Amino acid sequence: MMKSSLIILFVSIICCWQQILADTPANCTYEDIKGLWLFEETEPIKDRWEKCPEHQQQREKYSKKIFIRLDFPNVAVDKFGNIGEWTMIYNQGFEVKINYRKYFAFSAYERKSENNVLSYCHKTQPGWSHDVLGNNWACYVGHKVNNWNDDVSKTVSAEKFPVKQHSERDLYLQNINVEHILSQKHIDHLNSQQKSWKAIVYPDLQTKSIEHLIQMAGGRKSRIISRPKPLRATEQQKQLARSLPESFDWRNLNGIDYVSPVRDQGKCGSCYTFASMAMLESRIRIQTNNTFKPIFSTQEVVDCSEYSQGCDGGFSYLIAGKYAQDFGVIDESCYPYKGVTGKCQNQQNFNQTNEKCKQRTYTIDYKYVGGYFGACNEEAMQIELVQNGPIAVGFEVYGDFFGYSKGIYSHQPSNESNDQHKPTIKAEFNPFEMTNHAVLIVGYGKDKKTGEKYWIVKNSWGKQWGMDGYFWMRRGTDECAIESLAMAATPIPN
Ligand SMILES: *[C@@H]1O[C@H](CO)[C@@H](O)[C@H](O)[C@H]1NC(C)=O
Ligand SMILES: *[C@@H]1O[C@H](CO)[C@@H](O)[C@H](O)[C@H]1NC(C)=O
Ligand SMILES: *[C@@H]1O[C@H](CO)[C@@H](O)[C@H](O)[C@H]1NC(C)=O
Ligand SMILES: *[C@@H]1O[C@H](CO)[C@@H](O)[C@H](O)[C@H]1NC(C)=O
Repeated sequence: MMKSSLIILFVSIICCWQQILADTPANCTYEDIKGLWLFEETEPIKDRWEKCPEHQQQREKYSKKIFIRLDFPNVAVDKFGNIGEWTMIYNQGFEVKINYRKYFAFSAYERKSENNVLSYCHKTQPGWSHDVLGNNWACYVGHKVNNWNDDVSKTVSAEKFPVKQHSERDLYLQNINVEHILSQKHIDHLNSQQKSWKAIVYPDLQTKSIEHLIQMAGGRKSRIISRPKPLRATEQQKQLARSLPESFDWRNLNGIDYVSPVRDQGKCGSCYTFASMAMLESRIRIQTNNTFKPIFSTQEVVDCSEYSQGCDGGFSYLIAGKYAQDFGVIDESCYPYKGVTGKCQNQQNFNQTNEKCKQRTYTIDYKYVGGYFGACNEEAMQIELVQNGPIAVGFEVYGDFFGYSKGIYSHQPSNESNDQHKPTIKAEFNPFEMTNHAVLIVGYGKDKKTGEKYWIVKNSWGKQWGMDGYFWMRRGTDECAIESLAMAATPIPN
């Protein structure tokens, strides 16, 4: 597959579901998921923090049956013709909203051995459902079926739906030579190849282990998936985007800064929660004209969220969006950052004399920009950014990115590597692009001399990296897949 002596951090912001700890997740495509599903749901559970019953052993508990067809591009239909919507969450699972209920589950998979992982895309792991007000929680398991009203014995079988097998070794980094990446010789080469951005040697990074760099880039695993182009902007989006300012920056909107300080995730693949909290923090500043300037706990998500995988990765959609809506987030002072996955502390253990620890902050709404995963594009991102505030994105970190110091970044493929090569999947609709690192877009601009367009992006590698912790990424060309999965959530200020 991919091989390079230049570091190729084909790692991903996703990983495994903590309980199941097979630390390779499913790899399911849009085409795998689209179609008719039977959801078997339990009676309501008492407490949303409760564990879902094991499906194989306690099947009788999953007694309620709901049939839902997932159509192109994001339409969900039930047996009675009620219409709802759905979205993939990368290649990990999917969320359905229909009849005032929400359903989310990760796709099923099994790790046979280190190098043998099976994805069962026609099944889900036990997932969670609740009404749109966040009440009446239940557990459910989804199976693909052939016909409306089929019972579970008629679910699509493994023969009809061949399980996918892949070698984990292919996903790991190969031939990585950190010195090579961060050496003066290599940096000089990067700087001689192009004029758009400048690389420097970060002495601090040179001392870091490969594992540390992988965690900085988002976590352990990768998906070798791609998509040709982001969904084209509609005429309406284009028109609206034309009316936006040529440059925009939430750090300086008529002299006012609405963005919370840059943080450092350290040696933990928790970028997804830093990007998520940074978005909520900034949007609350915007909503309240800087009256409230919360800093939210990233550690609480790392330790407590079942929608993500601690230091092994996760998705902003499931954290800034779903976790914040379902469980809420809390102040940093109540649950300070440690940078390792720990045991979840519940609210009773927080500092009771700290008023901030008595409340959680929730999101009222969340979505992929464009409405569902795969519908993203530059114009839709600009519109969401200017109208509502910073947006969380994922992108693919290559080795050269570590050396970035300033300018408009675009990936420089090494002549020694075939890291440009991406297998493409022939499918009706295939929104996947590999991304591994999650960050926050706070603005955009255009170089006066060259006309090159860029996004202004907040990283979580500390202030000493890049331009005071920020970087510019080439805009309008889906550079490193940065225009493939932007998401936005609306917090409710306390
Ligand atoms: C994920 O699935 C797609 C489509 O089936 C395949 O092309 C790709 O190689 C898979 N990726 C991994 C990491 O197995
Ligand atoms: C927002 O804050 C700024 C700076 O403190 C102030 O000048 C402005 O009047 C405020 N706007 C509103 C609508 O309160
Ligand atoms: C608890 O919070 C209060 C108020 O913020 C603070 O003064 C105190 O030092 C905190 N106690 C601990 C043990 O962190
Ligand atoms: C690219 O190829 C040239 C000629 O083969 C070689 O001299 C150079 O070192 C290579 N660059 C890198 C980054 O390996």
